[in-house]
Amino acid sequence: MSAKKPIRKAVFPVAGLGTRFLPATKAIPKEMLPIVDRPLIQYAVDEAREAGIDQLIFVTGRGKTAIVEHFDVAYELEDTMRERSKDMSVLESTRATPGNIITVRQQVPLGLGHAIWCARAIVGDEPFAIMLPDELMIGEPGCMKQMVEAYHETGGNLISVVEVPDEEVSNYGVIDPGATNGALTEVKGLVEKPPRAKAPSNKIISGRYILQPEVMRTLENQGKGTGGEIQLTDAMARMIGTQPFHAVTFEGKRYDCGNKLGFVEATLALALEREDMGADVRAMAQRLLSQ
Ligand code: G1P
Repeated sequence: MSAKKPIRKAVFPVAGLGTRFLPATKAIPKEMLPIVDRPLIQYAVDEAREAGIDQLIFVTGRGKTAIVEHFDVAYELEDTMRERSKDMSVLESTRATPGNIITVRQQVPLGLGHAIWCARAIVGDEPFAIMLPDELMIGEPGCMKQMVEAYHETGGNLISVVEVPDEEVSNYGVIDPGATNGALTEVKGLVEKPPRAKAPSNKIISGRYILQPEVMRTLENQGKGTGGEIQLTDAMARMIGTQPFHAVTFEGKRYDCGNKLGFVEATLALALEREDMGADVRAMAQRLLSQ
């Protein structure tokens, strides 16, 4: 049984076109947009590493190579910085352990489920994590670490959930919750982007998953769902009942950086919390608000 094999691999679906952020994302991947001074993808990768996950699988597409470059060694830059005695710590965690970055391409944008399925050969026969970099999860410990800790108890499949106001549920995957025990909730059903009136709860999937490899087989014959796309949520829904399925309510702050308002909120919130600039940002915000 693979129930408690350690989680060593994380899949980052990063092939999306980022149309909501055009024109910013015409020539750069949306995952490279920075919140203050770190690109979104780096927050997600750091969160995975904190959870003990060191094999990073990027499902990319055309025009997305900057993401891989970001985690490579930049000799010229590092040399020049060293010569000028610049602080090198800003580059910390931007280097991957040799061999631990793997990219696969999703040639056609058929949906999140299809993107994950594109990584099947690399994932192989072990449980794995999925991290959607659009969702910025700030916690201590981070969201994936909270999930890995829960996974040691439950095994099976886990998704992170947060509660959102009712008017937002139709933007997300929503769980039909069963019994709750602390942060853990049994998942009885899952539905992708339901109309508000049909949503089984206001607990939405917030972009972090620990799944058993069987999901790849399920995705293999997954038909199109909401938006005409192959939905990961639909494949997971079909696994409920065959394997344990739980939701972990994330303890921390979550920002949906897939939309502009969430992105601006994250920028402001993280800037306000920074030791090196928080006080100045607060003064600046107050000045702007009083104009
Ligand atoms: C995806 C998932 C959805 C999840 C969301 C989190 O949707 O399909 O279940 O709630 O990410 O952001 P997308 O944002 O790609 O439309």
